[in-house]
Amino acid sequence: MAQQGAIPRRYTRDMRIAVGSDHAGFEMKTAVAKHLADAGHQVIDLGTDSPDISVDYPTFGAAVGRAVTDGTAERGVCVCGTGIGIGIAANKIEGVRAALVHDVTTAGLARRHNDANIICLGGRTTGEVVALDAVDTFFSTDFEGGRHQHRVDELSRPGRPGRPGPPGSDPEIRERQ
Ligand code: RB5
Repeated sequence: MAQQGAIPRRYTRDMRIAVGSDHAGFEMKTAVAKHLADAGHQVIDLGTDSPDISVDYPTFGAAVGRAVTDGTAERGVCVCGTGIGIGIAANKIEGVRAALVHDVTTAGLARRHNDANIICLGGRTTGEVVALDAVDTFFSTDFEGGRHQHRVDELSRPGRPGRPGPPGSDPEIRERQ
């Protein structure tokens, strides 16, 4: 059985995961950090450390983004009130693909289609049970590559994204025709 101790193995492998939030995301960040640590991941908590002291989300989004791109962590989790501001901040760091996720569906697609390396959650907009399910999906879903590879590569050309890829049919479009 693929189990370690009493904790079911939901993930393909253990990872180093940087987590960060502002005050509005502190409680969800704490819950996510515990959830990931309980599952065997190495969690690197970059703050903030209190829900009672107002701080600026760009500080923590950038910190998680840098940790992921400098190799301190393999992936990241960012939480603010909505997940929007901290995700914008993380995406300013070159090499970051931070995705705002609301549920299991968006978490899975962020990995499968966008190869997102940071999941962004709204502590005030998403319930904890849904958020933890989304986190499980995010950390156990692989990038599909294929037609999505060129699109993701385009995101890594700062200031010049948008070159069209080679012509080819997209199965998702075929399915809908
Ligand atoms: C803080 O009040 C709030 O603005 C912040 O957590 C976030 O939601 C911004 O995007």
